[in-house]
Amino acid sequence: MQPKASVRLRTMAIANLLSVFLVMEIIASGFRFGANGLSMNYYIMNCPFVDPIVKNTVQRALQSDPTLAAGLVRMHFHDCFIEGCDGSVLIDSTKGNTAEKDSPANLSLRGYEVIDDIKDQLEDQCPGVVSCADIVAMAARDAVFFAGGPFYDIPKGRMDGRRSKIEDTINLPFPTFNASELIRAFGQRGFSVQEMVALSGAHTLGAARCASFKQRLTSPDPTLDSSFAQTLSKTCSAGDNAEQPFDVTRNTFDNVYFNSLVRKNGLLFSDQTLYATAKTKGIVNGYAMNQAMFFLDFQQAMVKMGTLGVKDGSTGEVRVDCRKIN
Ligand code: HEM
Repeated sequence: MQPKASVRLRTMAIANLLSVFLVMEIIASGFRFGANGLSMNYYIMNCPFVDPIVKNTVQRALQSDPTLAAGLVRMHFHDCFIEGCDGSVLIDSTKGNTAEKDSPANLSLRGYEVIDDIKDQLEDQCPGVVSCADIVAMAARDAVFFAGGPFYDIPKGRMDGRRSKIEDTINLPFPTFNASELIRAFGQRGFSVQEMVALSGAHTLGAARCASFKQRLTSPDPTLDSSFAQTLSKTCSAGDNAEQPFDVTRNTFDNVYFNSLVRKNGLLFSDQTLYATAKTKGIVNGYAMNQAMFFLDFQQAMVKMGTLGVKDGSTGEVRVDCRKIN
């Protein structure tokens, strides 16, 4: 009896020790910071309800206006490509400074009030803790999911920037770019050709204004389906601000966008060029045939996009009001 009891005791002690190590490992992995200072559970101690607050607010916003999913996803892209993912796109112009949001490239951005709503709730719960840049990144993540796309989690801890200048937005890609120009623009930020095509798949959501594609209608374009060209001309007869959806399921995140490119129904020149160019055509075909592959590549590329030029405590701040630097 004696030796058996001591063996049991020793086994229990080892088991307890192992579970302590396990808990320590789980906690440590939550706080482990990547090279860019971001981590998955960044807010677990000082703002634990950040995720449900963002999710519920995005869900409510999309229930009353499903087109906002597109706005939120595009906002994250325009934020990250200029000055890094630092909420610079949210800053309002002041007397002495014309901000990014007043650039022609950003005039049709939508969803600012959703970000403000989330920020107000978070300032109530945990003042001065959650950055506007993280809110934009999380809102984009949840918009993709509620529109029917993949769920992916993102590391957090981005700080908000203090610079937002209209002239910086010249570095956003133009809808007139050909595939080589798109490859270069995304390559400069560390993206592969495949990642660039996957990210372009965000155009499965939303619409463009006639001003963004009307130049395609002035001369014959063999890459544009003729009856789709007629549809676009009809849309544009209502003026530069008339909207044309990118695909027939504008509020659903799916691979219909890629199938449209295959049928020469790409809306922007920069969309259709992905199918018209040998280097990217195979990738478009792949995503058109395999939605799961598109979802996987898209979510990985979005996580990567969300780490562009991230600022830390020495180069950024947590803004109190997303529209103003502190
Ligand atoms: C590949 C280079 C890209 C170009 C040239 C481009 C250009 C454009 C243009 C011109 C519009 C329409 C704007 C308007 O007419 O009002 C648009 C809309 C949109 N873009 Fe892009 N874009 C690109 C990549 C991306 C990426 C990487 C994302 C997100 C990850 C994205 C998300 C969106 C969304 C969701 C819309 C629809 C917005 C709405 O309906 O409110 N785009 N894009």
